[in-house]
Amino acid sequence: MAVERTFAMFKPGVLQRRIVGELISRMEKKGFNIVAIKLMRIPMEMAKIHYEEHREKSFFESLTNYIVSGPVIAMVLQRENAIATLRKICGATNPENAEMGTIRGDYAVSTERNIIHASDSPESAKREIGLFFKEEEIFPFEDGNEHWL
Ligand SMILES: Nc1ncnc2c1ncn2[C@@H]1O[C@H](COP(=O)(O)OP(=O)(O)OP(=O)(O)O)[C@@H](O)[C@H]1O
Ligand SMILES: [Mg+2]
Repeated sequence: MAVERTFAMFKPGVLQRRIVGELISRMEKKGFNIVAIKLMRIPMEMAKIHYEEHREKSFFESLTNYIVSGPVIAMVLQRENAIATLRKICGATNPENAEMGTIRGDYAVSTERNIIHASDSPESAKREIGLFFKEEEIFPFEDGNEHWL
């Protein structure tokens, strides 16, 4: 399987709930390399671009207002089959449907405040990584443990 990059973002509230370490730990244990990471507050214009595909939905305004309401942690994660694997460990969009053991199943209550964003396709991953990071902010590395994973 090919090594891929995906985009992940801890949504507003994750810092306040002090679960950043627990969430990052899940990703590291599952073999993701964190190759870029940034604490930031998303400007409204950027939020609208990020969630462009939902522009016509009834929840668009509420979603974009929420996503700019506090600091987020944006990341580029790398491993084999990264996009599908991260979606799997995040769980279903609606936390009520997310399996226990997934991030949303374990930590989230509402669909809007579902803790984490993860790219849903190679096209989204490329677009979202490009929106949040410059190429020179991405630092791939070899950890030497690949054969143990
Ligand atoms: N019916 C809804 N009501 C309120 N918010 C919603 C609803 N559906 C989706 N959202 C919000 O919009 C985000 C984007 O929806 P999408 O359908 O892309 O789900 P997702 O791909 O699982 O989540 P994300 O894009 O954040 O990784 C969801 O994560 C959620 O925060
Ligand atoms: Mg999505």
